[in-house]
Amino acid sequence: MTGVPLCAAGAVLDTPQWRPALHYSPQRNWMNDPNGLVYYKGIYHLFYQYNPSANVWGNMSWGHATSRDLLHWTEQPVALAANHTEEVFSGSIVLDADNTSGLGTAAKPPLVALYTSAYKAGSGHMPGVQAQSLAWSTDAGETWHRYAHNPVLTLDPESKQFRDPKVSWYAPGGYWLMCAVVADANVVKFYRSNNLIDWTFLSDFTLPDVPHHGALWEMPDLFPLALDGNPANKKWVMLVNVNPWSIAGGSGAMYFVGDFDGTRFVPLNVAPAGSNPARFQWLDHGADYYAAGTFSNAPGDKIVAVGWMSNWDYANDVPTSPWRGAMALPRELSLATVDGSPQLVFGPVRSYASLVEQSPATRLGTIDVVWSTRTLPATTNGVIQDIELTIEPGDASRAGLVVRGSPDGKTGTRIFYDTRAQTLTVDRSHAAHTSFSPAFSPQHIVNLPLHDGRLHLHIVVDRASVEVFVDRGRYVITDAIFPRLTDNRVSLFAEGGDATFRDVVVTDLSHSH
Ligand code: FRU
Repeated sequence: MTGVPLCAAGAVLDTPQWRPALHYSPQRNWMNDPNGLVYYKGIYHLFYQYNPSANVWGNMSWGHATSRDLLHWTEQPVALAANHTEEVFSGSIVLDADNTSGLGTAAKPPLVALYTSAYKAGSGHMPGVQAQSLAWSTDAGETWHRYAHNPVLTLDPESKQFRDPKVSWYAPGGYWLMCAVVADANVVKFYRSNNLIDWTFLSDFTLPDVPHHGALWEMPDLFPLALDGNPANKKWVMLVNVNPWSIAGGSGAMYFVGDFDGTRFVPLNVAPAGSNPARFQWLDHGADYYAAGTFSNAPGDKIVAVGWMSNWDYANDVPTSPWRGAMALPRELSLATVDGSPQLVFGPVRSYASLVEQSPATRLGTIDVVWSTRTLPATTNGVIQDIELTIEPGDASRAGLVVRGSPDGKTGTRIFYDTRAQTLTVDRSHAAHTSFSPAFSPQHIVNLPLHDGRLHLHIVVDRASVEVFVDRGRYVITDAIFPRLTDNRVSLFAEGGDATFRDVVVTDLSHSH
């Protein structure tokens, strides 16, 4: 495995070979959770947990970036900075269109942020206490004012684990709804408000016999979705990010489908006590999708989610510099009945499809691979690309592809179906640079019987990641990888027999940014 180049003093040199092209990363310094995802006047705003002064977690503040298409981002000045009394932990933003808070005017309705104050000594709170605070902007998110009477919501007695307020407008009741966690108690608390300032407790959501004592619940979110596209049959989806205990190890994004009556969320199905993570539902089966949340006020009432493409198991060790942290591709979520129960279905946002359509593609049609590895033609070489194909494993025991493969075939990320185990695996154990953390897990797996003996894969490859949309979005596997720049080959392989690959298309996205 290659090492990251060190300069004499031991500082890590810049790593442009891992700078994402299709994904947001700040120019410099540390980033974690997406915060305050809001669409306003044609612009998507992405705020995020940011350390303005170092490439590791600390001095938590809200960074800010804007985009018109969720793919091309412009970094903006820090929106809410840590100060002498508090760090600014995760939270959300809503457009207060009717000026219910009174913080703007009818002509200039405010954007209102609810965030977690993580208090310092001298703040009037015990150091480490977490409570929910408010800030607002009347210039479309450029300038933020902290509310004079913060915090607006705290627990009694105060808690060091009360955080991550996600606010939405509950239309059937005509009030604002907040969910926030008591992280170490594995509880989501619901509140309501008429003005975003005064909050009344509604209910707690937790699991009977929580299967992961010692894990934290973080970054909750709740939104309605039409089941199978039927607006008369809406279900509510509750996101709970859990750290550790994810399906891929470490931190991950779990979800529940259920009903919400304005007070209480009741899930339809919960795995029985003692179940392992595979009995739960996940936004992603890869190692690098955490703190996922959804946009407020997105056009067409679409549910668009963004996740942080990292994992708390090794986030602080990721070998990029001068930045650390990237966001996954924004995804559109829908809800469909799959094998008799409602399940989220994921697709890259629409603008991504048009980007692919406008870019040069190599269409290879059908390729039979007879117990061997077949490197695709040089026109498919690349480090920023979109790959679509349908695998028919046939009598092969394993069939799949290698992306970001080295010219000598020794390193690469393997994505393959195992016909006996009936699993799809992303294996990054030979994806060049892996040794920066012992917790950088090698393989991530989805259990998946084949329909009609075939499996459709849609893969987004960037300089330091791979996102695999499986079976038209039924599952996604998102993994960070740290290949060499020269690892730009795509190959297909079949082991133990022969496989067929249909409708193979590799699109070069290197000119799209
Ligand atoms: C999730 C999280 C949140 C918290 C933030 C601090 O990754 O731990 O619960 O608000 O990060 O940066």
